[in-house]
Amino acid sequence: MSVIRNNPALMAEMNRISEVAGYLWGKGWAERNGGNISVNITDLIGDEGQRMSSLTRAQPLGRSLQSLAGHIFYVTGTGKRMRDVAQDPFSHGSLIRLNACGGAYEIIAEKPIIPSSELASHLCIHNCLIERNLDNKVVLHTHPTDLIALTHCNDFLDSEALTWKLWSMIPECRMIVPKGVGVVPYETPGTIALAEATLKQLVNHDVVLWEKHGILAVGEDIIDCFDAIDTLSKSAQIYLNAKQAGFEPQGMTKKQMDELVAAFDLPIPD
Ligand code: 13P
Ligand code: ZN
Repeated sequence: MSVIRNNPALMAEMNRISEVAGYLWGKGWAERNGGNISVNITDLIGDEGQRMSSLTRAQPLGRSLQSLAGHIFYVTGTGKRMRDVAQDPFSHGSLIRLNACGGAYEIIAEKPIIPSSELASHLCIHNCLIERNLDNKVVLHTHPTDLIALTHCNDFLDSEALTWKLWSMIPECRMIVPKGVGVVPYETPGTIALAEATLKQLVNHDVVLWEKHGILAVGEDIIDCFDAIDTLSKSAQIYLNAKQAGFEPQGMTKKQMDELVAAFDLPIPD
């Protein structure tokens, strides 16, 4: 598929997807087919993407995502392993194009790999973030063990409580994840109910933790999405390590946090 392989900007983005898929596997966050990735590549592929013929019949999405009309995404395949996406994203995911009303998609390259079971959720999120005028390109979902463990404790099923606990473990967490983490109570994976609950949390956050399941990050850049989850995971590990050692971690004091916010001019949550 020379249209793709001869497009250096698109291939660079595919390499970054591979790089992050390898991190997810390496971190132990991607058991079997755990997690999925979608990236809006419309601008990278340009008009050529509109001319590419489809490999499959149009698949209805069951809703009209009008802001995504004609948009093109790379999406990991359902049941595919992140460690395999890392090796060869084109054999474990596909490029899809939405139709003119955003109500259906076709696979246009390179192989007819069926997209993630979370595709409808990913696309609802992409659509909504475009409507909110955000330059969002990436939806990244993975299963970080430490953060999921925290959702088995009722105290942490509250976005504010969890955010402040994680922020207070290391200064970098407050800096790298300035909007904190939203929490969504348990919903069945792959459902629109889960997508809608996630969208509510994405009004105030860029990262959303799903009770007893995993985490989802949105953003312009896939490496930044990974970094946000990685930093939250580091904080969760510090908290859990301290608890395992038999003490309650003190956390940064209010004075330390206030000084950090002032020094780096960090946003203060509503
Ligand atoms: P898929 O293999 O369908 O992408 O599902 C993985 C997953 O993590 C579901 O939440
Ligand atoms: Zn999942």
